[in-house]
Amino acid sequence: MRGFEGRVAVVTGAAQGIGFAIAKRFVEEGVKGLAVVDWNLEQAQKAADELNALGTTQVIAVKCDVGNYEMVEEAFAGIEAELGPVDLLVNNAGITRDAIFHKMTFQQWDAVMRVNLYSMFNCCRVVINGMRQRGYGRIVNLSSTSAYGNPGQANYSATKAGVIGFTKTLARESASKGITVNAIAPDLVKTEMMLAIPEANMKAALERHPMHRLGEPAEVAALAAYLCSEDCSYVSGTIINCAGADCT
Ligand SMILES: NC(=O)c1ccc[n+]([C@@H]2O[C@H](COP(=O)([O-])OP(=O)(O)OC[C@H]3O[C@@H](n4cnc5c(N)ncnc54)[C@H](O)[C@@H]3O)[C@@H](O)[C@H]2O)c1
Repeated sequence: MRGFEGRVAVVTGAAQGIGFAIAKRFVEEGVKGLAVVDWNLEQAQKAADELNALGTTQVIAVKCDVGNYEMVEEAFAGIEAELGPVDLLVNNAGITRDAIFHKMTFQQWDAVMRVNLYSMFNCCRVVINGMRQRGYGRIVNLSSTSAYGNPGQANYSATKAGVIGFTKTLARESASKGITVNAIAPDLVKTEMMLAIPEANMKAALERHPMHRLGEPAEVAALAAYLCSEDCSYVSGTIINCAGADCT
């Protein structure tokens, strides 16, 4: 795909799962520099080492809690000093703290808000002015089919629905500056996040699913690569389900 050569990319939550698959795909597409941003530095460093071995991309691991604005400011300043201005940003880091609402604690609510939603403000805010000045940028945010409601996930669903409104608004505000902003809404993808789902619930979900299988992280990464390519020049403010078959 066009638009990766010479570019610098940041993928948050890229130490494992979908984020790692996206980072790997960007390296395969030939980005110049890539930052694996994650709050788990040890795992992020392992991921960066694996990616550095693949090709010519300079890959760095950066420890950062994307829910904390000061940390994000500092981390991105360091990334730009080391790799250059950020052209491609994938806001992928996310967590679940599931509970039925009448048993949900404020801590469960607050943690998910910070990591899944505040991170959108934090990471986009620190790169948007540079992208506007340079007249180019690609932003992809991870939403979820849970945005449309899912019992036990009032906190998570609220953040993933928030991502949709945020994405559509930032896309419109950035459209005249060569910046596209899109979101991916995966359904069930084979990562560690899925381990939190009880086995019986997973079995039932797969029986209901038209493809009767989980998605692969690489399948989400392929979509992210398109949305971050130069070919994706007239698609913005769009939420694309990556769900095997659109069941929402
Ligand atoms: N796996 C799925 O089925 C699925 C479905 C829909 C949406 N999603 C979304 O896709 C994204 C990736 O999910 P995944 O399944 O790969 O998750 P995962 O749990 O496998 O990986 C998430 C990564 O994010 C990192 N992370 C968590 N909080 C962070 C923070 N505050 N700061 C920095 N890094 C942090 C973790 O250390 C981890 O490396 C998430 O936004 C998730 O909500 C996943």
